[in-house]
Amino acid sequence: MTIPNPDIVILPSLLAADFGNLEAAARKAEAAGADGLHLDIMDGHFVPNLSMGPDVVKMARRCVRIPLSVHLMMSRPDRFNFIERFIAAGADTLLIHIEAECNIPDSLLRIRAAGVKVGVTLNPDTPAEAIAQVVDAVDEVLCMSVHPGYGGQKFMPTVLAKIRQLALDARRRKQPLSLSVDGGIDLNTASQACRHGASVLIAGTSLFGAPDMAHAIREMRDAARAAYCQFKQEAQTPG
Ligand code: DX5
Ligand code: ZN
Repeated sequence: MTIPNPDIVILPSLLAADFGNLEAAARKAEAAGADGLHLDIMDGHFVPNLSMGPDVVKMARRCVRIPLSVHLMMSRPDRFNFIERFIAAGADTLLIHIEAECNIPDSLLRIRAAGVKVGVTLNPDTPAEAIAQVVDAVDEVLCMSVHPGYGGQKFMPTVLAKIRQLALDARRRKQPLSLSVDGGIDLNTASQACRHGASVLIAGTSLFGAPDMAHAIREMRDAARAAYCQFKQEAQTPG
């Protein structure tokens, strides 16, 4: 049986970069072979931290050609035209949280209507069932493997079962869903996540902290590929 070449996507998270020189950090990630950049937007309400706004997305868009994935950790992403402003700034994928305090289906439609990829994110304690009503309307499901708000936290292995559940469910429904994982991703946890069906890896500390980012990305991609192949092989085996 042939296993199609698994497509692993690695997105360094700018949150772990030196905020004194974000331009250089964005360029460095692109030069190191990143498939895109992950930008974390925190509102000081949904999460106990503040980070960046549309202007930082605009800066990244100016500096690099790789896609920008924008993760809105916001209670009200539907307010103040934030959705449209992040898209105008250059987001290629916009992810909102299922736990946000807004009309989720309506916000997902707004993102879709603006012509970018649509993603929904689940906090570590949120069950897979919480997105049942909207999963058909998204291109990507992001499973947080830490409580959002800060970089540099420890990966929570309890999310692995949820990743597998979502991955198998998407396969059953034949939905070409990107399944991503964010928080505490390094060489080892990347393999674990891909072994359970994730193929998009978001990593801040481990990649920006690596002595050689290009090497770290290559190593992560190889390990992730092998693990994802195993997942696919198992998923194809009946019973
Ligand atoms: C956490 C953010 C993550 C964070 C990951 O709230 O959503 O994207 O940057 O950072 P590391 O890889 O350091 O856990
Ligand atoms: Zn994030």
